Amino acid sequence: MRIIPIASGKGGVGKSLLAVNMSIALGQAGFSVVLVDLDLGASNAHTILGIRSVTTGIGHYLQNKDSDINDFIIDTEYSNLRLLPGEAEIPGLANIKFFEKRKILKDLKGIKADFVIIDLGAGTNMNTLDLFLASSEGVIVTTPSLTATLNAYLFLKNIVFRLISTSFGQKSPATAYLEHLQKDGNSLQRLYVPRLLEILKAKDPKGYEKFDKRFKVFCPRLVFNMIDDPKDSFKAQKLRVSCREYLGVDMEHLGVIYKDHLQDVALSSRLPIIVYKPQAVLSQAIFRISEKLVQLSPLSEEDFDYEAIEDSYQIANEEASNDFDLRIAEIKDLLNTGALTEGDLLETIRTQQFEINSLKKENMLIKRKLVKAVNSGYKL
Ligand SMILES: Nc1ncnc2c1ncn2[C@@H]1O[C@H](COP(=O)(O)OP(=O)(O)O)[C@@H](O)[C@H]1O
Ligand SMILES: [Mg+2]
Repeated sequence: MRIIPIASGKGGVGKSLLAVNMSIALGQAGFSVVLVDLDLGASNAHTILGIRSVTTGIGHYLQNKDSDINDFIIDTEYSNLRLLPGEAEIPGLANIKFFEKRKILKDLKGIKADFVIIDLGAGTNMNTLDLFLASSEGVIVTTPSLTATLNAYLFLKNIVFRLISTSFGQKSPATAYLEHLQKDGNSLQRLYVPRLLEILKAKDPKGYEKFDKRFKVFCPRLVFNMIDDPKDSFKAQKLRVSCREYLGVDMEHLGVIYKDHLQDVALSSRLPIIVYKPQAVLSQAIFRISEKLVQLSPLSEEDFDYEAIEDSYQIANEEASNDFDLRIAEIKDLLNTGALTEGDLLETIRTQQFEINSLKKENMLIKRKLVKAVNSGYKL
């Protein structure tokens, strides 16, 4: 059984879209799948699946400490796919108690399925981090925007720190050192992870060994969603380099997904996009990502393959370029059949220009804030 948590630093980047559609795709491919909606307080996996309302889910499951998780997993109309729904009324994942988190973590590992896909809420609260770390092969979703990629990086940074702080024992000199650093938030920010690890290794070689065992097989993967242009795909490479150099984590690329207006149409018809239009470029990208996921096994200590990771970026860039051609071909078809008029096209360009302008403003603002932060001594 493989647990695949799907997370992001920023909300609204397409986690639920990916989690739901990928779960259906894996089910169609013959794997038994349980989709777990852990975006508590804002759960919407059931809605994307076209289920109008759910009466029981995580909330009811957590009410009783002896409850059996399997009693709350419901069938869906899709083959091999079952769902553990979230409940909108219960507070977010950040607010669940320590023993509740322990129970979820333990029970998730006992679910009988080939894949347990977890739709996590955005953000870096401790419960979210621990659920992401329930597996060594979580997926981080981002869009190419500056805020989203920065948040993806910061999410991963928090994950690495959580992995460090949970690996060394409470009485370890390494933990004392980390606590000492934490008191002075600034010096913690300034440290870059490979250097910190050297220090911790010297302070507690045994604790470090435990950490390293987990770290070596830790292999988060990346999905770049809502791209508009093949060039957007290159931004993934930048994110990869920062993560590798500053965090010591090399992320494999699962692929890109273009922004597609068909998704809105699919939503309003209450059908997941890969069911509504399996041939759509967006759906094809999700099938492709699901296939890659099946082919990639969880890492074992020996098989870290630098070249395969390098290739995954090259392949993603090629896919971005091919999908772009397909999209252009789709638009040409629509124009030829009259389904799309030139007026529609102009209107689309106008709205996109408006969006571009507001994004530019947002970028300027963030850049200014970043410069200010860096000038006052903050290090990413
Ligand atoms: N590739 C895409 N093309 C078009 N719309 C998308 C795409 N990915 C996500 N969306 C839309 O963006 C919004 C946010 O996606 P969602 O999956 O709910 O994000 P998250 O779960 O990360 O908050 C939704 O309305 C969704 O339909
Ligand atoms: Mg969501």
